[in-house]
Amino acid sequence: MAINFAKNRNANFGKQYFCEEAMKAVLVKEPGGPEQLYLGETPMPELNENEIRVKVHASAINRADTLQRRGHYPVPAGSSSVIGLEMAGEVEAAGEQVKKWKAGDRVFALLSGGGYAEYAVIHEDMAMPIPPNLGFEEAAGVAEAYLTAFQALVWLGEFAEKQNVLIHAGASGVGTAAIQLANLSECMIMATAGSEAKLQTCRDLGADLAINYKENDFSEKVLEATSGKGADIIIDFVGASYLTQNLKCIALDGRQVILGLLGGASGKEISLGAVLTKRVKIIGSTLRSRDLEYKIRLTQEFSKACLEKFETGQLKVVIDRIIPWEKASEAHQYMESNQNTGKIILKIHP
Ligand SMILES: NC(=O)c1ccc[n+]([C@@H]2O[C@H](COP(=O)([O-])OP(=O)(O)OC[C@H]3O[C@@H](n4cnc5c(N)ncnc54)[C@H](OP(=O)(O)O)[C@@H]3O)[C@@H](O)[C@H]2O)c1
Repeated sequence: MAINFAKNRNANFGKQYFCEEAMKAVLVKEPGGPEQLYLGETPMPELNENEIRVKVHASAINRADTLQRRGHYPVPAGSSSVIGLEMAGEVEAAGEQVKKWKAGDRVFALLSGGGYAEYAVIHEDMAMPIPPNLGFEEAAGVAEAYLTAFQALVWLGEFAEKQNVLIHAGASGVGTAAIQLANLSECMIMATAGSEAKLQTCRDLGADLAINYKENDFSEKVLEATSGKGADIIIDFVGASYLTQNLKCIALDGRQVILGLLGGASGKEISLGAVLTKRVKIIGSTLRSRDLEYKIRLTQEFSKACLEKFETGQLKVVIDRIIPWEKASEAHQYMESNQNTGKIILKIHP
């Protein structure tokens, strides 16, 4: 039975709806390189009573997607096996218990999978309204970068006014969001990146100091800029290759939040002396594996604190480029070559 969603919108609304229909999605032939991605068909996700089904207009690429494609990121239990951790689109159908949304509402959300697809199903409390001045492509780049950065800075990093914040990979999707969030308060923002163009982006977004980690020992630059005090919070995506320098330039009672391991998970021996004497907290986190209740709380708190700031222009989504989903391989290849500044958006429905 083929379903024309436009025609059946009202009929589907408010009913529990189980669909055996197929939809288009970007799939993986075999675990491996970007060439393994192709546009194929997969079953439509089922809709439960407190969920909405969204017609996806755009998704965005994340590092975890490239790991999943390679077969190095197991899909959390109960999540879609289709790649994609965020999306923006229009509400198409809703379960019986849904109260907040109606057909046609423009929403965006974090997903635990299933973003590179025509339709995604989410709990109604995970959806956020798209600020009126944002298009689907911009909104598709907000959730993963901003919720990760908000969680790392505010919840895990215990962010406070007048502190010194060091944000690694400052021109990454998450890095560009973290710099802007920190810039909403009075604090000193330091960022690292690997090219002059990326450093300039960090400065434009509010970094007081932008350090080329390929040309400098960033720990020395941080200590110099903070008169020896160091960074109160370090947002780190790099891991092992940065640990010694991070511990050198972290402040007394500093918090280092590890979100990624782009520089490896293990390396040469490190001394725990600085952890002890500086009373450092080293906190690791992955957002995708958090339970639904945690993600809903994070979504709601972020929405309350930050959504209107996208309307006023205090926050924005840094978009490197928009790529049609037929060219998802190209988008993955581009990210894996570390070329992007900010988000790579995947355009799905026109
Ligand atoms: N734990 C979580 O909850 C969570 C959630 C979302 C994302 N993440 C992680 O956050 C990181 C950023 O994600 P994203 O999607 O924003 O990434 P992205 O836009 O692809 O940016 C990553 C950037 O990191 C830099 N980089 C890569 N390898 C490096 C290395 N060995 N040493 C130093 N810098 C390196 C590169 O910039 P340069 O040119 O400046 O070197 C690269 O462009 C990823 O590791 C991702 O897995 C974690």
